[in-house]
Amino acid sequence: MKTNRQNLTVLTACSSWFATHSTRLLALVLVWMLALAPVVYAADLSNANWPKNNGSNGEAIFEQYCVGCHVNGGNIIRRGKNLKLKALRRYGRDTPEAIADLVKNGKNNMSAYGDRLSDEDIADVTAYVLDRAAENWR
Ligand code: HEC
Repeated sequence: MKTNRQNLTVLTACSSWFATHSTRLLALVLVWMLALAPVVYAADLSNANWPKNNGSNGEAIFEQYCVGCHVNGGNIIRRGKNLKLKALRRYGRDTPEAIADLVKNGKNNMSAYGDRLSDEDIADVTAYVLDRAAENWR
């Protein structure tokens, strides 16, 4: 247990540290905000074409988990089962429910992501896939 006197010393040390460093701290926060601004702005811009897409999370998930097999909306393992609208329709995967179910539970050579992705992540990546399919992955 610390004594009151020790506590007081710590407190004094803290406040004098803050007094000398507060300007620097403020400058740091400012720089940090400025540095982040373009990122926030870019995320906004990229989202402009995707009204149903909930932020850029869907794209991030796709880039991390799906692009390996589905680059440009294709399918490197089963070419016919790609992410273009025509194929999605043919195989009955042209609804958010059907895609989310596939992502969650997997099928054949496509693994299940239910243990790695939350329902929200799955909904986001599903919206991303449908939006990109609607613009033919251009
Ligand atoms: C290891 C490679 C691989 C990865 C990674 C992968 N998939 Fe697939 N995907 C496949 C295969 C193989 C199929 C065909 C499954 C079948 O037999 O029906 C498929 C089918 C699909 C289909 C249905 C396509 C159609 O025309 O019927 C969708 C939608 C899909 N994947 C989305 C995703 C999403 C979203 C992710 C990331 C979360 C993902 N995939 C990750 C291999 C992969």
